[in-house]
Amino acid sequence: MKLTVIGTGYLGAVHAACMAEIGHEVLGVDIDEAKTAALAAGRTPFYEPGLQELLTRGTASGRLRFTTSLREAGRFGGLHFLCVGTPQRPDGLGADLRHVDAAVDGLAPHLIPGALIVGKSTVPVGTAERLTARLRAAGAPEAHLAWNPEFLREGHAVMDTLRPDRLVFGTGSRLAENVLREVYAPLIRSGVPYVATDTATAELVKMAANSFLATKISFINAMAEVCDAAGADVTVLAHAVGYDHRIGRSFLNAGLGFGGGCLPKDIRAFRARAAELGVGPAVAFLAEIDEINLRQRRRTVELATRLAGGELTGRRIAVLGAAFKPESDDVRDSPALAVAARLHREGAVVRVHDPQAVDNARAACPQLDYAARVDKACEGADVVLHLTDWAEYRALDPDALTPLVCRPVLLDARNSLDPDVWTRAGWRYAALGRLGAP
Ligand code: UGA
Repeated sequence: MKLTVIGTGYLGAVHAACMAEIGHEVLGVDIDEAKTAALAAGRTPFYEPGLQELLTRGTASGRLRFTTSLREAGRFGGLHFLCVGTPQRPDGLGADLRHVDAAVDGLAPHLIPGALIVGKSTVPVGTAERLTARLRAAGAPEAHLAWNPEFLREGHAVMDTLRPDRLVFGTGSRLAENVLREVYAPLIRSGVPYVATDTATAELVKMAANSFLATKISFINAMAEVCDAAGADVTVLAHAVGYDHRIGRSFLNAGLGFGGGCLPKDIRAFRARAAELGVGPAVAFLAEIDEINLRQRRRTVELATRLAGGELTGRRIAVLGAAFKPESDDVRDSPALAVAARLHREGAVVRVHDPQAVDNARAACPQLDYAARVDKACEGADVVLHLTDWAEYRALDPDALTPLVCRPVLLDARNSLDPDVWTRAGWRYAALGRLGAP
């Protein structure tokens, strides 16, 4: 099939490359000329495991092309996936739908009769209905809108797209549902389940899923706070609780909490939309989920301060991790970077290492020092903070770091390093919610 993908950020670039991979003829569209040129030359503009390979294959085969022209997109065919960003509004209360509106407005005059626009971006419920009216007003009365939310995780985006847990088709018509079944036919044939529903339900499925994931993380972080007070170990607690198949072990890793371009802004946008719909109290608990999450950043700064001797001024702190999570170079709302910046503000000398995210981190927080290697970040450190759970950090040899640091003190804010290994090597090991927390 011929299809376009409007917006080639994390979501769109992966979707475009994966659609080409399963045999479609794809035109990726973005207003960013530099990004479009890089993608057209087969280069990924960000770090995402497995994407480069698909992009190389897609562009070499000619099945994957890129343009900055919405006019070209409209003429390309009758199927358009909308993958533009829906960031948090500057007032923090709701999603900024400027890019979605601009894409639809820009595409409308060029659409061929009967074209189908399929939204993938995360949007407040009711957006598809609103955009349908917008299309009509823009003079594209024969165009249709559907919503097909995306559930990919950064760092696993390619596999999540090619082998998703499920597909959700929110359509107003059997015709649109059939088009989506045809697009995803190779996935459906390989056993991926799909749920066909209306657009409002499809939009809400995404908000509900991200809210549930955020709730799970904040729940276990709340337990971590109780564990600290009671002298218990949240990692063992999560392990034991997770055996209950009704609960499940995943997304129960306690620590510094969630960040990134999705979960934090989505729970806020969901609250704002629910309030507009007159059901604010139904999701008022999400405010507490947000607060528990942000509290982990403050707790980490407090613990780091205590470990540094109660005073940050002039203390040297090594920060391991800047990305909001491992296998990503994304620093949007990164808990690690927020903690590093706060420590710096309070007078500490902070040196940050990350395997992939240093360039983005430097652009976001130019006031911090950055090191290309872990040992360089740790030189002379009074405290080492483990803030993003990269596999590289789990493989660290504490004995190799001991002679470099000023004091062998580690705060494992992701609870994923081995306390025994670090204490045997003579380090003071501290964590969030585990026995031994100061
Ligand atoms: C999230 C969802 O998991 C995806 O399903 C969704 O498609 C995506 O948002 C989106 O809306 O686009 P993502 O933000 O890529 O995906 O990352 P996650 O793997 O969900 O991690 C989010 C944050 O939670 C990270 O900061 C991670 O470190 C943290 N986390 C995760 C924990 O603190 N504990 C856990 O147990 C799991």
